[in-house]
Order: sequence, then structure tokens, then C-alpha cells
Amino acid sequence: MMKRVLEPEVMNDPDQVLAYAQADFEEENQSFVDQFFTRYPGLENPHILDLGCGPGDIPIRMARRHATCRVTGIDASQPMIAYAEQAVQKAGLQERVQFLCQRFQDVNLSSPPDAIISNSLVHHVPNPLRFWYSMKMLPKPGSPVLIMDLLRPESPEAAQAIVDEQAASEPEQLRQDFYHSLLAAFTEDEVAAHLAELNLSRLFVDVPDDRHWVVYGQVF
Ligand SMILES: C[S@@+](CC[C@H](N)C(=O)[O-])C[C@H]1O[C@@H](n2cnc3c(N)ncnc32)[C@H](O)[C@@H]1O
Repeated sequence: MMKRVLEPEVMNDPDQVLAYAQADFEEENQSFVDQFFTRYPGLENPHILDLGCGPGDIPIRMARRHATCRVTGIDASQPMIAYAEQAVQKAGLQERVQFLCQRFQDVNLSSPPDAIISNSLVHHVPNPLRFWYSMKMLPKPGSPVLIMDLLRPESPEAAQAIVDEQAASEPEQLRQDFYHSLLAAFTEDEVAAHLAELNLSRLFVDVPDDRHWVVYGQVF
């Protein structure tokens, strides 16, 4: 198994941000949102915190799917937050969806959220234990979480094959970013070891397809 190859933590490069913001993640993002509300039905007026929200597509989909939820999306990239703010204005959801330009390591909300979500952030983080620590400390005890990210393939060749299969017709910038993200990602065993190290024993790790892991459950 190849070792993890880090990529830059925050997505600040304008070309990279533009390619990401213009990409079509509808199917993946809607399925993430549907999975959250299917796993956790009956949440009343929840305040949901999205760590590494990027251009804001998932927070907006969460607010459309649940009529009384509030969502706070945080991202350390100012250009990503600028796209997210445009998108929420366009969607007319600014009463219930807000964005903050902050690192998740520095987030300090006036009251703890009722749920935590995060998609495709963890592979950016140099020290994953710092991510799981924040996820443990930020919400109210017993809060539901849904965290998803890429699985690291066995080799650079296997990563390239995934890019060629899944993103054949995408712009070159997006294909390169996808490749580097796969190299920076974690394996299922590594994620399980990180959860155990932080005693997050009510969380489960699952591999829903050949490219992703997902962590779900309640955080205490
Ligand atoms: C691959 S994007 C995922 C965006 C979004 N969650 C989605 O699913 O489309 C990862 C995002 O995490 C952000 N990020 C990386 N490190 C971060 C940190 N320490 N704190 C907050 N955001 C961070 C990046 O700037 C980038 O926008």
C-alpha cells in the first residue's frame, strides 16, 4: 500500500477554486444529504455545522431538504466562501444558511451545534487526529455526525485509473486535484485507528463504494 502524500490544506488557488465551484457534484452531494436525513430522521430545528463546506452546495441542499434546519458552513478559503455566499443569495436561503471563513481548528460558535457534517475535508488535513478532536469537542453531546471522504488506493497507478474512469471528461485542473486528493486520502483501517485513538467508540466506519469511506453515529 502506498504511503499518504499530503496536498495543500486550504484550497486558495483561484483556478483550483473555480474548477471545483463549477464542477457538477449534484449526485454525490445530494446522496450525502439524503443519507444524513435518512440516518437521522426526526431532528427538530437542528443547527448543523459543515466543516470544510467549500462552495456551499451541501449546506444549501441540507436547507432545501429540511425546512427548519439552520446550517453553518465554515471553510478556511476566502475564495470558496465567496462562491458559497453567492450561491446562498441565489438560492434565497441566507436566513437559514450562513458561511464563515475560518479554519475548523479555530471555530468558536456562540452555542454548540446539534450535528456535524463534513465531506471531502479530511484528506486535506495534515494531522487527522486534530480533525476528529474538533468533531468530538464542537457539538452537543449525543449529536449525530456524518463524515465522508475518499479512500486511498493501493498505488499511484490505481489512483490514476480511478481518475480516468470517473473523471474522463472533466477539466484537467479537476482531474489533477482528484488524483492528488486520492493520494492524500486515508484507508478504512487508518480512519478506524484514528477514531479508536480518540475513544470515539459510538462512531462507525463504513465503505459504501470503492472510492469512499463514511463515518456515522453519535458523538459523546
Ligand atoms: C475538497 S473541498 C470539499 C468542499 C465541500 N465539503 C464539498 O463536499 O464540496 C475541501 C475544502 O476544505 C477546506 N479546508 C481545508 N482545510 C481546512 C481547514 N483547516 N479548516 C476549514 N476548511 C478547510 C478547503 O479550503 C476546501 O474548500
